[in-house]
Amino acid sequence: MGAGVLSDREALLHAIADQVGTPVYVYDAGEIRGRFRRLTEALAGIPHRIHYSVKANSNLAVLGVLRRLGAGADIVSVGELERALRAGFGAADMIFSGVGKREDELDQALAAGVGLINVESFEELKLLDCVARRRNTTAAFGIRVNPDVRTATHPYTQTGEEGMKFGVPLDDVPPMTRWAAGRTSLRLDAVGFHIGSQILNAAHYADGAARLIQLIAHLRNQGAMLRSVDAGGGLGIRYRDERPLDLEAYADAMRGLARTVGLPVVIEPGRFLVGPAGLLLGRCLYVKRTAGRTFVILDAAMNDLLRPSLYGAEHDLALVPGGIARSDALGEDETVDVVGPVCETGDFLARDRVLPGVAAGSLVAVLAAGAYGFSMSSSYNSRPRVAEVLVDGGNWAVVRRRETVDDLLRGERTLDEIA
Ligand SMILES: Cc1ncc(COP(=O)(O)O)c(C=O)c1O
Repeated sequence: MGAGVLSDREALLHAIADQVGTPVYVYDAGEIRGRFRRLTEALAGIPHRIHYSVKANSNLAVLGVLRRLGAGADIVSVGELERALRAGFGAADMIFSGVGKREDELDQALAAGVGLINVESFEELKLLDCVARRRNTTAAFGIRVNPDVRTATHPYTQTGEEGMKFGVPLDDVPPMTRWAAGRTSLRLDAVGFHIGSQILNAAHYADGAARLIQLIAHLRNQGAMLRSVDAGGGLGIRYRDERPLDLEAYADAMRGLARTVGLPVVIEPGRFLVGPAGLLLGRCLYVKRTAGRTFVILDAAMNDLLRPSLYGAEHDLALVPGGIARSDALGEDETVDVVGPVCETGDFLARDRVLPGVAAGSLVAVLAAGAYGFSMSSSYNSRPRVAEVLVDGGNWAVVRRRETVDDLLRGERTLDEIA
């Protein structure tokens, strides 16, 4: 949620913090719907389908909001397949992506009737062929290509450049499709790319599209009968002061692709739909001044939101107004690091920020934390994973209860138990 959302939601956030405790993720269903609508409007007139990338936020209720809007699902594991089914997505409305699918995962996807399996290597295609033959079925597959497009995003979220583990180099695609053409167990339905995440420049999509267009012309000369073209996800959002991806320019690239190849475009956005619709709410435990530095120590930490530690990501932070004013609160001229209780120097949520008014007991919101927040969280330091709340209009509900220490210990055995 953006800072604007906070200002009229402060009472709600205090109520959630008081009743559910902190840290807690809070998502706004209305904001998710609004973002889905904006994207759909930008793509108006372009035959397309939005497959929400489940990994960004895989909470069942969040999935439910997107399913009711008519989205399909982009999944990368059997766990996500089960989640999406549980949230009501039809298997036919799912695309199975991922660079390392296991044989049992391919088998379960075929058993469930997943609409499209995007393979990322010749080896995987051969395995899919074996699994489909064993099941006496035809697997509809796509090929994720590596279009060798350089994006200006964090190195860990670039995926479309030559030499990366993702996708099939363009020149290696025709031998795969020729091999598959003779097999009743395989049907080539799509080719596509996913060039990275948090992409702010639509020109990268146009570059990728231009390479796909050439490839598709080549494949058609070989006799390929494609049903769609997949332009992946990656649509960039504002975390602090970035200018978000220009949706009009993005839509132009998608329009050019769809028109030139005469196929519907499938896209797989995750972050764009849910990132700005969520925040992580933490409480300040201490303000610690030491050796000329000031640390705001929250009860939320890197295990709850990994992005700052992993990518150096910068999220906007805001004090939730309405707490008790304290005379020892931070002033306008005090620069602080916002950290958590985890035993790592890399455990920070923000560095060099000014957060006037914050004192022990204050509620602090880490904004735009709806994507790759909870879904990347862990229980490191044996910290139970936090609760998730979905707000819809004036109503809210806990959509995942806070884990307990018993949840953490479930499945483990003591030495005495195995002796
Ligand atoms: C194949 C694929 N599609 C879509 C996405 C979603 O990316 P984003 O959340 O940046 O839109 C990812 C993210 O890693 C991905 O790997």
